[in-house]
Amino acid sequence: MISLINLKKNLTVALLILTLVFVEIATNSQIAIADTATTPATATAAEVFSANCAGCHINGGNIIRRGKNLKQKALKKYGMDSIANISNLVTNGKGIMPAYKARLSEQQIIDVSAYVLSQAETDWK
Ligand code: HEC
Repeated sequence: MISLINLKKNLTVALLILTLVFVEIATNSQIAIADTATTPATATAAEVFSANCAGCHINGGNIIRRGKNLKQKALKKYGMDSIANISNLVTNGKGIMPAYKARLSEQQIIDVSAYVLSQAETDWK
């Protein structure tokens, strides 16, 4: 009789531990999903671009305002041919283009701006 009670106790403890493990796994996988939605601090400029910008600017284009693309000619025309000006636009957004100050670090914004300029130099090829 005593051993049966002990068995029940042990089972309860085992179940409790299992539940905790599952909660732990579930919480961890949620964190993992959240991490991919924001950009990890270690991402390269190319990764930052493909995760945040390529949706509208695939291959240096602009699916919303076609003229305002990331090709050298347009960047020059609209005064967007410097890291400072692109960073400012990316930080604060403009019109339909979202602001990235809450999503990317200052360094990531500078890096992705430099990436845009260097891609424009080779015509995104
Ligand atoms: C939701 C779509 C969208 C996303 C995402 C987006 N942009 Fe834009 N982008 C636009 C639009 C629309 C404009 C034109 C803004 C205006 O002048 O009205 C623009 C303009 C620009 C320009 C100026 C182009 C020119 O010829 O004047 C640059 C540079 C730029 N975006 C870079 C980026 C970068 C870098 C990212 C990612 C960090 C990004 N954009 C994300 C929509 C987007």
